[in-house]
Amino acid sequence: QRSYTIAVLPGDGIGLEVTPPALRCLEAAAERFGFTLNFRHFEWASCDYYLKHGKMLPDDWKRLLQECDAIYFGAVGDPARVPDHISLWGSLLRFRREFDQYINLRPCRLMRGVPSPLANAKPGSIDFLTVRENTEGEYSSIGGMIFEGTERETVIQDTVFTRVGVDRVIRYAFERARARPAKKLTSATKSNGISITMPYWDQRVAEIAKEYPDVKVDKYHIDILCAHFVLRPHIFDVVVGSNLFGDILSDLGPACTGTIGIAPSANLNPVSKRTDPDWKPSLFEPVHGSAPDIAGKGIANPVGMIWAGQMMFEHLGETEAAAAVLAAIENVLGDAQDRLQKGGEDVLTPDMGGKGTTEGLGKAIEIALKTSQ
Ligand code: NAD
Ligand code: IPM
Ligand code: MN
Repeated sequence: QRSYTIAVLPGDGIGLEVTPPALRCLEAAAERFGFTLNFRHFEWASCDYYLKHGKMLPDDWKRLLQECDAIYFGAVGDPARVPDHISLWGSLLRFRREFDQYINLRPCRLMRGVPSPLANAKPGSIDFLTVRENTEGEYSSIGGMIFEGTERETVIQDTVFTRVGVDRVIRYAFERARARPAKKLTSATKSNGISITMPYWDQRVAEIAKEYPDVKVDKYHIDILCAHFVLRPHIFDVVVGSNLFGDILSDLGPACTGTIGIAPSANLNPVSKRTDPDWKPSLFEPVHGSAPDIAGKGIANPVGMIWAGQMMFEHLGETEAAAAVLAAIENVLGDAQDRLQKGGEDVLTPDMGGKGTTEGLGKAIEIALKTSQ
């Protein structure tokens, strides 16, 4: 029987709340499609662990994760107790770099039943993929402070675009665009203002575009691109951006589809197979963070975490199970109003306009996975 070992790192805040119902959904899908999931639960990569041990990760973290087929990650961050740059650079950002997860894939879809803040946006009209560079760019650790404590105090942080790093994410985005019906790629740039790195990015997009004559390419500066996300989101198919631009767009896109609580994220090292010596695990997580403002209330939307599990199934080659998970999410959200009108439980969490709970919505999706054909 097919079997996968999954490292489970719930992290902090609502990461701890969305993980259990999501795991039950994944188990239901695995059972239905005839494979097993062995979960290895870890409490590190959390601020609680940091406050106890003075570090985010145990010394053998790399070996422990490398033994698993994939990493399923909740969210990290407890800014009231641990500075964010310590908790995040000590966990998530470290995983992305050390496992060379250079693609961050973030789908965005307006689903039936989820109210969009955009007037007249119809379900299905927003359906695009953000491909975010995930290991370099604006997220560099090169820089520092000089003249500290004087009037001339200066902080510098360099942006790093390597040819390898830029080319591989752009090429991946072209491949993704080529595989979709609209075959369209939009590049996020800012070459009018950021005058060295962004013209280089544009030049690499133009160069690689020659290999993909069947893909339509356009580019927008990040400022107007944000405006178009709100005003004309239906025009996008695949959007590629640097680490920071991709980060911003992948919160803005899901916000246009109602809530960032449903958005998933796949941090991929797509190069090699499990059997290759240089294989490294990929990491699957919701786009959102630990949401301290709602943590402990049991009302976090678990869909981002469940959908991230769907992306993990895709990555593991369990495409039927992946399709079933996505269908279960779409059906449950789409039918939620109907169920409510028929006297059923409100499963929509408050971020989607309902009075539902994390457990209630997770359970509804789990049941849909167990009962649908
Ligand atoms: P956030 O995503 O945690 O929350 C932003 C807003 O969205 C909050 O109002 C929150 O309540 C809401 N929200 C987020 N997820 C939701 C869900 N599933 N259901 C309902 N509402 C949801 O972003 P933030 O407030 O900027 O960051 C909080 C902490 O999380 C910080 O420590 C930050 O560094 C960290 N963070 C971690 C990750 C990650 O681990 N991948 C991602 C983003 C932020
Ligand atoms: C994300 C998050 C992280 C990022 C933070 C928490 C460092 O916002 O995964 O989108 O900026 O990459
Ligand atoms: Mn982000």
